[in-house]
Amino acid sequence: MVAYSKPQSLMSMLLTVFVLLQVSVAFSHNAHSHPAHRSPAAMEAHLEDTRSMLIARAGKVTVKGAPDGQYPRLDIRELKKNADQWNLFLLAMERFQNKPKNDPMSYYQIAGIHGRPFVAWNGGSQTGGGGGYCPHGQNTFGSWHRPYLAIYEQAVYQNAQEVVASFPKNQQQRWKKALTGLRIPYYDWAAEPPRGEGAIPTSMRDQTVSVTKPQGKVTIRNPLYSYTWGNSLPSEMGWGPSNGFATTLRRPVQNPTRSNNNGVNAIFGQARVGWRQRVFALFASKQPWGYASTAAFGVKTIRSNADSFESIHDDIHGTVGGTDGHMSYLDVAAFDPFFWLHHTNIDRLLTMYQLVVPNTYVVPGKVNRNMFQWKAGQTNDANTPLVPFQKDNRGASYSSNDVKETRVLGYYYPETQQRSAKQVIQAVNRLYGMGERQMTKRDGEDAAPIYAGRPFQAGDYDTVLSVVGDKYAMPGSYQVHCFLGAQPANGTAPSHLPTGLVNGTAPTTKPINGTTGNGTANYEYGFDSSYVGSHTFLGGSIAGTGNGTAPTLVEGCIPITAALQEKQANGELASLHPDHVEPYLKENLSYKIIGPNGQEFAPEDVPNFHVQVKSCEVEPSTSEDELPGYKEYIELPRASLPASQPWTYTPGPLDTTPDTPAESPEGYCVSQQTIRYVDPAGNFLYEEVTGM
Ligand SMILES: *[C@@H]1O[C@H](CO)[C@@H](O)[C@H](O)[C@H]1NC(C)=O
Ligand SMILES: *[C@@H]1O[C@H](CO)[C@@H](O)[C@H](O)[C@H]1NC(C)=O
Ligand SMILES: *[C@@H]1O[C@H](CO)[C@@H](O)[C@H](O)[C@H]1NC(C)=O
Ligand SMILES: *[C@@H]1O[C@H](CO)[C@@H](O)[C@H](O)[C@H]1NC(C)=O
Ligand SMILES: *[C@@H]1O[C@H](CO)[C@@H](O)[C@H](O)[C@H]1NC(C)=O
Ligand SMILES: *[C@@H]1O[C@H](CO)[C@@H](O)[C@H](O)[C@H]1NC(C)=O
Repeated sequence: MVAYSKPQSLMSMLLTVFVLLQVSVAFSHNAHSHPAHRSPAAMEAHLEDTRSMLIARAGKVTVKGAPDGQYPRLDIRELKKNADQWNLFLLAMERFQNKPKNDPMSYYQIAGIHGRPFVAWNGGSQTGGGGGYCPHGQNTFGSWHRPYLAIYEQAVYQNAQEVVASFPKNQQQRWKKALTGLRIPYYDWAAEPPRGEGAIPTSMRDQTVSVTKPQGKVTIRNPLYSYTWGNSLPSEMGWGPSNGFATTLRRPVQNPTRSNNNGVNAIFGQARVGWRQRVFALFASKQPWGYASTAAFGVKTIRSNADSFESIHDDIHGTVGGTDGHMSYLDVAAFDPFFWLHHTNIDRLLTMYQLVVPNTYVVPGKVNRNMFQWKAGQTNDANTPLVPFQKDNRGASYSSNDVKETRVLGYYYPETQQRSAKQVIQAVNRLYGMGERQMTKRDGEDAAPIYAGRPFQAGDYDTVLSVVGDKYAMPGSYQVHCFLGAQPANGTAPSHLPTGLVNGTAPTTKPINGTTGNGTANYEYGFDSSYVGSHTFLGGSIAGTGNGTAPTLVEGCIPITAALQEKQANGELASLHPDHVEPYLKENLSYKIIGPNGQEFAPEDVPNFHVQVKSCEVEPSTSEDELPGYKEYIELPRASLPASQPWTYTPGPLDTTPDTPAESPEGYCVSQQTIRYVDPAGNFLYEEVTGM
């Protein structure tokens, strides 16, 4: 047996980072110590030189995260309250997006790591079978995006540093103060927005924004509204939604083509209540982190409602993108600035979850389709290098284990500041617990008229519509919308999938005026009076798996508990007990599947699509320091729906099954060890005993 020595690899990695940092500090110090002799432009040029030299020395960009020590990544509404830091963040984003496309630290290249263009980032080479770098429906979904966010944060900080240097010297002190500890913000789409505000902050959906530049107050294009490639999409991008539109779009409308951000906001107001129930149920499930983080089918424990942070994440993508926006396609999603605010929140939830279920983390799993760096079928585990995120200048990449503690990358979250489960659980109860104040239309511009739920009582059950499907069944995403009550009229569902939709590439021109729902163009199911929630199967522009032999099964769920509580409150349903719920749902529950072109599909025409109504008894919590106990989810077979017939799961060659050993992957044996985490400057952070 080869003993796997975590501390050693970590130490050598950190030593390298430390050396690099010394160089960096030396140069910055040099720049800062002679401000009087330099014009802002000269100083900026000098910083640019420093940066180029650093990259030249290292050969390649090394992922370090933002410097200054450990600071919290804040909620976007909190960050905005610090006017100077907010101003600096916006200017940094503007500068970042304008960086030349051949710079590995440009927005274009960093966003391009995720999917398209399918080229190497930072000088690597293609070692997998094709496509982009991002793992989805896989065990490394949660950990791979961690250094990915860190390189983005590093770039934002670097641009902020350059912005500071562009201010006149008598203002430097003020902006340097704002720079210290600047971290990227997160957008919490599940928590209740402040009274009177829409679900999505206006700072993410206004087209322009007022900022302070060296020349004074000016209005600029809002860098959080969209990213633009220029006049046309670079040919290496290959493809783009809305006929290759060269600016990112959210739920696009035509004539002229533009984002419908207020529409996204209004739908978020409705969908948010479902996301909040999902987040809460996931935390309460306390299933191992490895299972809760991935949407991959078959890796869930019996107690689980089959949901995962990745599944919830998928639905936010699909809800922002709609049928033809960039967020609905994995290969171009990262170009929308929304992606980064959303993913930072996913990373936050996963970090919080680590504290609620300690001693669980990435489990071994198979790569489900060919990727730029990995081949379909290869087994990855917590020590697999998360290519292309280099941790040192010798080419080694961070592993999932390397980034288990976020402070290694210079950040934490408000809820993980104390590194205590108690702090996280209190926050989960406060932010996502059932029974937030019931919102009415009077509360704000777009506040949800949807019933927000009440706290669990003894004898209550949690009820969900669990959904399983092939992630890459269609070129693009498809969404399942769930209704309780009168079903919206059927659209013009084709009797079978149109030729070219399966295994094909998304057509370059797609009707975004589809005929769905009530037979009207662009019918928004989220506004239907019977709407309960949605789930998205988040795909890419190319359908099928990497080698076309096995479907990529993923699962998620649509919570219907709050909607049932409302029926109970109105006296239409006796209780949440299955005896009452089952007949109620049989008569009143329905769903619709809407494909990437806005078209409705009959369930039997979507390959590998299954639904199941499940419910579990909930033991209410007695204090803010604990979560309710969710018991085992049991199917309610009499609440039958299309595609709810019993079926047998036969694991495919690319599936990760519950049988995959959770510990001791091939090649080394994990023995009990103490890992000391230190920051890039070598300062001790904390230690942890693993392998027990
Ligand atoms: C497709 O993936 C399966 C499972 O890993 C593998 O056995 C098979 O060889 C692959 N086929 C091709 C053509 O790559
Ligand atoms: C829509 O079609 C489904 C069959 O696909 C059917 O069960 C349902 O009753 C129809 N709904 C309406 C409102 O016509
Ligand atoms: C949708 O747009 C296409 C292209 O502009 C047009 O041919 C089609 O008739 C439209 N369909 C509807 C239902 O408006
Ligand atoms: C759907 O169509 C019916 C019949 O025309 C109409 O009464 C209903 O208001 C429509 N629903 C929505 C949400 O537009
Ligand atoms: C998709 O590809 C698979 C594997 O090559 C094949 O078995 C299947 O028939 C294809 N489906 C369609 C609709 O072409
Ligand atoms: C269906 O919903 C209606 C309205 O809430 C309710 O009156 C009815 O009893 C439900 N059906 C069943 C079988 O419970």
